[in-house]
Order: sequence, then C-alpha cells, then structure tokens
Amino acid sequence: MSIRDFILVSMLAAPVCALAGDPHSYANTEAVRVRAAALDLKVDFSDRRLAGNVRLDLDWKKPGQHALVLDTRDLDIQRVVAIDAAGNEKAAQFRLDKRDPIFGSALRIDLPEAAPAVRIHYRTAPTASGLQWMTPEQTAGKKRSFMYSQSQAIHARSWVPLQDTPSVRFTYTAQIAAPKGYRVLMSADNDAAHPLNGQFRFAMKQPIPSYLLTIAVGDLAVRQTGRRTAVYAEASVVEGAAKEFEDTESMIEAAEKLYGPYRWERYDILVLPASFPFGGMENPRITFATPTVIAGDKSLVGLIAHELAHSWSGNLVTNANWQHMWLNEGFTTYVENRIVEAVYGKDEAVMQLVVDDGEVREEMAEMSDNEQLLVPDLKGVDPDEGLSGVPYNKGRWFLRFLELRYGRDAFDPFLRGYFDHFAFQSIDTDQFLAYYEEHLAKPHPGKVSRAEIDAWLHKPGIPADAPVSRSPRFDAVDTARTEWLAGKRKADALGAGEWVTYEWLHFLNGLPATLPPESLQALDTAWKLTGTGNAEIAFRWYALTIRSGYVQARPAIAAFVERIGRRKLVLPLYEALAKTDDGKAFARQVYAKAKPGYHPLTQGSVERVLADRDVGEGP
Ligand code: BES
Ligand code: ZN
Repeated sequence: MSIRDFILVSMLAAPVCALAGDPHSYANTEAVRVRAAALDLKVDFSDRRLAGNVRLDLDWKKPGQHALVLDTRDLDIQRVVAIDAAGNEKAAQFRLDKRDPIFGSALRIDLPEAAPAVRIHYRTAPTASGLQWMTPEQTAGKKRSFMYSQSQAIHARSWVPLQDTPSVRFTYTAQIAAPKGYRVLMSADNDAAHPLNGQFRFAMKQPIPSYLLTIAVGDLAVRQTGRRTAVYAEASVVEGAAKEFEDTESMIEAAEKLYGPYRWERYDILVLPASFPFGGMENPRITFATPTVIAGDKSLVGLIAHELAHSWSGNLVTNANWQHMWLNEGFTTYVENRIVEAVYGKDEAVMQLVVDDGEVREEMAEMSDNEQLLVPDLKGVDPDEGLSGVPYNKGRWFLRFLELRYGRDAFDPFLRGYFDHFAFQSIDTDQFLAYYEEHLAKPHPGKVSRAEIDAWLHKPGIPADAPVSRSPRFDAVDTARTEWLAGKRKADALGAGEWVTYEWLHFLNGLPATLPPESLQALDTAWKLTGTGNAEIAFRWYALTIRSGYVQARPAIAAFVERIGRRKLVLPLYEALAKTDDGKAFARQVYAKAKPGYHPLTQGSVERVLADRDVGEGP
C-alpha cells in the first residue's frame, strides 16, 4: 500500500467527533466533559495487568444529552454503573465499538439521564500500548519487576477509559495496590517517605489532560537534590543521577525569573530503565527520563531543562489537539534554550541552536510539504508516526525569530503574559495568534508583517529571512574538520580533547554522508568513538559507520541497541542498517535479541523498518 492509500484508508477509519475537533479522539466533549477521575487499581505483575475501576465525574454541557463516549484501547470492560447525586450506583448499558488499529475502540455508555458520575470496572491487556511491563532480569537491580506508563500521545486510553484528548483537563485521585516492597509513583503528590507497604494513595489537585496521567511501579530509591526536587531511580543508578541533575533547582529558578512561579509544587525526576522509548516525558511533578542523558558531565541535561520547561508550555498551556503540537514542543524547545543560557551560559545555548537548526533543515529536506507545516493535517495519522523535529525546532526557530525582531524587553514579558493568560487551558494556533496580535504585534507595529507570520505558521520549509545562529566555538571545529578531510591534519591533531558534546555533534554532522573506512578507523583510534558512553555522540557516529561500511563498529552497535530502547537513538541505526541486505540481516539478528527489552512503541517502529516491504514503498 502506498503512503497515500494508507492515509486514505486510515482517514476512513478516523474517529468521528464533530465539534471537539480532535482527530484522535472519539470523545463527545461537546456534550460532556470529565471533570475528575478516581482510580482504584491493583498492579498484577504475574498477569501483566492493571485491574479495578475508575470513577469519572462529569460536567454535562448540553441539556437533554446523556450519552457518554470514551476512548479505550484493548481494555476489558467488565461493568459500567451510573452514579446519581446521592451516590447510588445503577448498572448502565454500554457498547464497545470495533477496534481501530490507531485509535482503539469507542466505549459508548447509554445513561438513562445525565448522571453526575459513572464507574467503569475494567482491566488492561498485557499488551497495553501505554504500559511497559519488565521482568526483574530487564532491570538494573534484577530483583523486582518494573512497570511504567507512557500516555502521550494517545495511549492513556490503553490503561484508563477516558476522554483521551488534550482539550479536556481533569483532577484525579488514585488508590493503587502493588506488591509489598515496591514504590508507586504517579503524576501527583508523591511522598518520598511513603512506606513500601503495598498501598498507595495519590491526589492531583491541578487539572491535567489525559496524556499527562502516569504511573510507575518498581524497586525505586530516592535522593533529594534540592528544596523541591528529588531523583527516583533504581539503587545502582540513583547516586549518579542525583549528581548529574543537581542543577535542577537552579533551572527552576531561571525559568521562574523569566516566566513566573512554578505552579506544580514539586519537580522530581524518575530515571527509567534504558528501554524507555523517549528521552524525557514531562509528567507533572515527576518528569520521566532515560538514563542515556546521564553522560557524567551534565552535557545532556538540556533534556531536563526541556521537560521542566513543559511545566509552562504544555502542562500549563496545552495544545488542544496533536495538530497544534508546536504550541507544546516549539515553545518548550525555546524555553529550554533560555534556561540553558541562564544556567550554563550563552556559548552552550548557541551551540545547541546551531546544531538543532542544521538538523531540522536536513530532516525537512526529506519530508512532504504537509509534514513540514507547523500545523499539519493529521487526520487519520497515528500521532506516534507524525513525530519529527518540525514542531520542536521549526517552532522554536519561529519564536526565536520573534524574540530577535521584538527584542527580549518586549518578547519576554509577552511570553510570560501568554502563560498566565492561558494557564490551565488548552488552545490552538489561532488562539495563540489572536493573543500575539493583541499583545505583541499591536503594541509594537511594523516589526513583523502578517505575511512573515503566515510563512512560518502555514508554509513548508524555513523562511529565507530566518535568523542564523553562529557559534564562534564551532569555527575551530569547522577548521579542524576541513583540514582533516583535506589530509592537512592528522586525526589525532583535531584538538578535540577539549570539545564538549555539542562540538562533537557539530563535527560529526558536518562530515560527508560516507567516508572511507580507513578514515573512520583513524578517527576511532584517536578518539575512541566506538563504545563512547555519550549516547548522542554514539548514535550519530554509529550511523556514519554503518553508511560507510566500517564494520568494526558492529559489536558496539549491537550492544548499544540491545541496551537502549530510546526510539530516537536506535531507529536511525536500524534504518541505516536496513539499506543493505547484509546490514538488514545483521539488524534482524540484533533485533531478535533486543526486542523483549523494548517498549511496544519502539518495537512497532523497528518492525516497520525491518519488514520485508515498507508501507511507503508501494504501489
Ligand atoms: N513530550 C515529549 C515526548 C513525547 C512526544 C512523547 C510525543 C510522546 C509523543 C518530551 O517532552 C520530549 O520532547 N522529549 C524529547 C527530549 C527533548 C530534549 C527533545 C525526547 O524524548 O527525545
Ligand atoms: Zn517536549
């Protein structure tokens, strides 16, 4: 099937949800909205299931309506009851629609009248797309099992029946039963001193969208790193993580200075096993992070700045649906850079801008026009598949363009006002634009034209007058690279002994797509790139070795992709390997070993790459 046919077929199956306008949810939010959820679940590691019930408190929007449509995916719905104002429970009729491979099944509940609440008794499937269940052997400590959720973008529905759209916010409480000795964490009021007695209770009083609902259960130690920050991780990881993330409180203070008080009370970090499919996830009060950011020298903690930045952009002001994801990720990438600048200095911040600008440009060269838009059409498209650098770095570039045109004196207060104005709301790009017109364009006329805004927001590519970032520190890297490529310098004379991570990334990104294996051998001998503990350097280097046929790196590549399940790091390597028959055979061999340790998301992505014929190869 060609991509076009695929999109066409998927569109036919897309959820029908007229007014709410979220193409990824079946919920009838124009009639009713979930206001609060109360979870009561038991964690069963032997069955790989969560089982119990959820009570949803409802706000009915339209008189005369009493049908409730929820999102679910592979849930076993056992019983639904309506709860009246006096708290009496009465069985309600329900129907589960046929399962759509991307969106799951609509759960249609017929209520005799607009009940103030419903309770749904259910259990999850062992294959729930939003949960990863790990055996003790797959953890660092090897003693206890581990389970965690990843709800963004549309996987909350695989562990709780709810309105799985970021346009709805709700508060929640939870009562979670787990085996004794385990710690349970949620995006709520975690208590580091909680006894590990198998009974955990949580309350989250700030309303959040469903994609920020989270749970993790495992053998977790904790270290405080500041007055409102702590790190949770397996015992063997927690010390190193606490050291690496010791600047978190300074980051919060830097962000508060720019954008106003941190509104979520605590900011803790949970370091997950290396199979976590993302770098980080901004679950409120408890960021989830991959251990691959622990480079030992804080060189990758920009990721923490990123997840922290979401406390303003994303968690406080939320994209109304995933087509407006740049409102979450573009703003966050911009704020991340401002935090890095405040805490680590301009040099570091600018190097990141140069690398990110170059990478998103390169990425866009391979994309369709629609994929290059800040507000793409995602109807019928799996939001996991729609992920790219565009919402992140084109979005961030646009905001930097505004910053430079208006100046920080105007732009910083504007952004702070934007976060205050839309706090705890979900908005789309037009709402941002209206606010921009009123609060930045109007008071400062003549700085930016409407056509320029339109080009950034609604045209493919990067506008020709986009600001170009320059790092003086990269000049030396460019010279070293050019001279080495021209044979005027030996590999060991690059002067890379003092390079920080971003200098290496800039060096690697500027190399030709392939090099003779002997050249790579020389680099490797001089700088020991194969086997480096820095995951960002590693995956760029390994991709180059694969393209260049430098097969000496293969054992290290195998070890890397077997240990790490972060999709961004491993997928490019499988893709590069899959380009040759021999590489593909090697990749399949490696994947067979790696698969049990991967999250369902990473498994799905890798399997699409290694399939005999790609979906996109048609007709
Ligand atoms: N919210 C995202 C992760 C995400 C995006 C999960 C889309 C599911 C769907 C998170 O804030 C993020 O962007 N993480 C990045 C790290 C960041 C430093 C760019 C990642 O995981 O690579
Ligand atoms: Zn993000």
